[in-house]
Amino acid sequence: MAKIKTAFFCQNCGAQHAKWAGQCSSCKQWNTIVEEVVQKEEKKSWKSNSNSVKKASTPLRVSEITNEKEIRLDTQDQEFNRVLGGGLVPGSLILLGGEPGIGKSTLLLQIALKLAYKTLYVSGEESQKQVKMRADRIHPNSENCFILTETKTQNIFQQIAALEPDLVVIDSIQTLHTDYIESAAGSISQIRESTAELIKFAKESSIPVILVGHITKDGSIAGPKILEHMVDTVLQFEGDRNYVYRILRSLKNRFGSTAELGIYEMQGSGLREVNNPSEVLISKNEEDLSGTAIAATVEGMRPLLIEIQALVSTAVYGTPQRSATGFNAKRLNMLLAVLEKRAGFKLAAKDVFLNITGGISVDDPAIDLAVLAAILSSNADIPIEKGTCFAAEVGLAGEIRPVQRVDQRILEAEKLGFTQIYVSKSNKIGLKNTSIQIQLVSKIEDVVSSLF
Ligand code: TYD
Ligand code: MG
Repeated sequence: MAKIKTAFFCQNCGAQHAKWAGQCSSCKQWNTIVEEVVQKEEKKSWKSNSNSVKKASTPLRVSEITNEKEIRLDTQDQEFNRVLGGGLVPGSLILLGGEPGIGKSTLLLQIALKLAYKTLYVSGEESQKQVKMRADRIHPNSENCFILTETKTQNIFQQIAALEPDLVVIDSIQTLHTDYIESAAGSISQIRESTAELIKFAKESSIPVILVGHITKDGSIAGPKILEHMVDTVLQFEGDRNYVYRILRSLKNRFGSTAELGIYEMQGSGLREVNNPSEVLISKNEEDLSGTAIAATVEGMRPLLIEIQALVSTAVYGTPQRSATGFNAKRLNMLLAVLEKRAGFKLAAKDVFLNITGGISVDDPAIDLAVLAAILSSNADIPIEKGTCFAAEVGLAGEIRPVQRVDQRILEAEKLGFTQIYVSKSNKIGLKNTSIQIQLVSKIEDVVSSLF
């Protein structure tokens, strides 16, 4: 093989070194030096037989650029399409990150199986038989999905040139390795170089590529941060593995909004799209239970009704316990202090446990009021009237503060048959003729006196 020149660069200051070292001698940072390709054997296209010379592009006036609607590939999965901003853009590179076992492979295989186009699913982690076993659970007969177990990029490109698929899925980027670099698969320089080759391929062929990326302990996608800059779209698949719900978010999207999100339910036969999330997140208890309140929240662009449960009990030890699942514990402490100071509830000697059902976690401040209502309801052991929900933030002075997109929240609550919603008096409500009763409140005391 022809000689390939590599060199070592510091990721922090960019200094070049002749050999690897633990510390960069110019900026004194540790563990920042990585190997990179400086010169490849030749500038080959991904298609070794293509000899097309790419034309340099010329500047155009903005008015001259046509804005015909882009063609997008329909993935047959409404949630996935929504998160992408309306389907796959030809030639785009999408990175899907998520913790191990969350369902990344399942999601992508499912999409590959349902797609009406020819797809190549490259697995570097599982054998063809293993993928087949999974495929049988999801969608047994698909004629358009091809499985390849391969980790060398050059071989993958050969197979792509022979098969000519409409979509390529790579599971995962950490297993790929290219001949140009000697370091082990999964190392930063391998990941970076393999991704660069895939980007070149996607842009030249207009075939979209979806990459699976692993997540490190601190929650970022393993490999250099630069990977996220290189790709067009970064998606994150998340959820609690002990629960069935999974959320697909977009962290970056060159072709759409990052505010969209998709919700799935993991079943025995793959992931089911959840088109109406509020219905599944609220339990359908016939009896009234104390300590439960419904909050109208907005996740991304989607209104969502969630159930909040609180348990207030007498503290056994000197220091009361406060614990929150799916909600910020510091915020819970703050809300308890507000209740104590502004509304006179003696919660200092009480243990308070808070849980958002369904295993989802929410950081929308608009659920504050529902959290307080759940705590008060458990404390008094009086259930909150059926058909009631809340959408307001609570301030340090005990005031009920307005929230964003209140109309959307009210409409969602109305759609699901709620009869009253508590919102802040200072919220501007544009809706008219709603069948749901809108309770305008300005202080915690108003809420307490009207609820209990
Ligand atoms: P997987 O897609 O392998 O996760 P990742 O690629 O993100 O590591 O998901 C594995 C989990 O999904 C595993 O615990 C089994 C579960 N699962 C189902 O519950 N139903 C199914 O139909 C499939 C295929 C997997
Ligand atoms: Mg996997």
